Amino acid sequence: MSHVMNTYSRLPVAFVRGEGAWLWDREGKRYLDGLAGIAVNTLGHAHPRFTAALTAQIGKLIHCSNVYQVNEQELLANKLSLLTSMQEVFFCNSGCEANEAAIKLARMYGHKQEIESPAIIVMEKAFHGRTLATLSATGNRKVQAGFEPLVSGFVRVPYNDLEAIRLVAQNNRNVVAVLVEPIQGEGGIRTLDIEYLQQLRKVCDEQNWLLMLDEVQCGIGRTGKWFAYQHSGIMPDVMTLAKGLGSGVPIGACLTAGSAAGTFQPGNHGSTFGGNPLACTAGLATLNIIEHDKLMAHAEVLGRFIREGLIAALQGVNGVKDIRGQGLMIGIELDKPCGELVKMALAKGLLVNVTADSVIRLLPPLVMTQDEAKQLLDILCPLIKEFLQA
Ligand SMILES: Cc1ncc(COP(=O)(O)O)c(C=O)c1O
Repeated sequence: MSHVMNTYSRLPVAFVRGEGAWLWDREGKRYLDGLAGIAVNTLGHAHPRFTAALTAQIGKLIHCSNVYQVNEQELLANKLSLLTSMQEVFFCNSGCEANEAAIKLARMYGHKQEIESPAIIVMEKAFHGRTLATLSATGNRKVQAGFEPLVSGFVRVPYNDLEAIRLVAQNNRNVVAVLVEPIQGEGGIRTLDIEYLQQLRKVCDEQNWLLMLDEVQCGIGRTGKWFAYQHSGIMPDVMTLAKGLGSGVPIGACLTAGSAAGTFQPGNHGSTFGGNPLACTAGLATLNIIEHDKLMAHAEVLGRFIREGLIAALQGVNGVKDIRGQGLMIGIELDKPCGELVKMALAKGLLVNVTADSVIRLLPPLVMTQDEAKQLLDILCPLIKEFLQA
């Protein structure tokens, strides 16, 4: 009997090693990784230069408290600032912590403007994490049920609906920020229109609201640019990162710019592990390898290859509603719940995921090759057809 707490319904497989886009289980069976630990293993598994960078750092210094200067943290903050033109970075250990930092920051920003009960606009079908504040911001009752009372101070609107935002602006003087994923991951690979994001930026400027983008899943090169918002030419005031930033080493980050910068002062927020030398080395190595190996351009090209392959094989097939996404963040929506497909794919040696009940989600590592992507399509497309015909 396992003593691991029963918080996941786990698939009957345990991996013991990986290489590139491949994983091996305890029995020696090989699997093609179309999920990358849910957008975490940016560089795939056991990347030689990543491993070397981590190994060298472990031999020097793993952790030191944030009461001291942390060299690697400064290097990673500088690098992130260079890639975004944002000003400050707070480091933590996960996506929900990065969003907690953003939520706290928005509240403090509001209080500084003498708004006593600051509120944050959040979206339907959003996912921001499992802590109390972030599950309250999340737009999924399954995540919230049983944990009431929820944290107050969130106003929910439909995704991609500018009129709804304008209506809140007219009626609610407590709003201080909007928190939104440029591409909803858990919500089913749904992308904000570029025009919406540009208009949202304008509304935020007019209303003095912070535009806070959750790029925990869609950031770090996955969509073909460093960050998904960069497809729209706007700048956020706050951006949260985690998942792919450390290629598997836990790290989260909350970045600020413009009027959000300078909100936190010593004593306002903190984290024991946040931004330790090992995690920041992982972040720096990830960004440097993405840059050096031109993995963003690769993500764009490979993403298009996979989407085109899916369209060629599945468009018009009865039961396939939509094939969508950007770069290596891809969703195939069916007209019925399809969780079963995850097990069918596993049996054929392919790792995929299903989210929002009926959306097959692909989040391959950025190092996947075109030949491997072809193998992915060759396994997945017939399986989807088989599933729909059953
Ligand atoms: C967009 C987004 N935000 C936040 C989170 C929470 O991240 P974590 O599980 O690291 O707390 C996730 C996780 O799936 C996510 O997709």
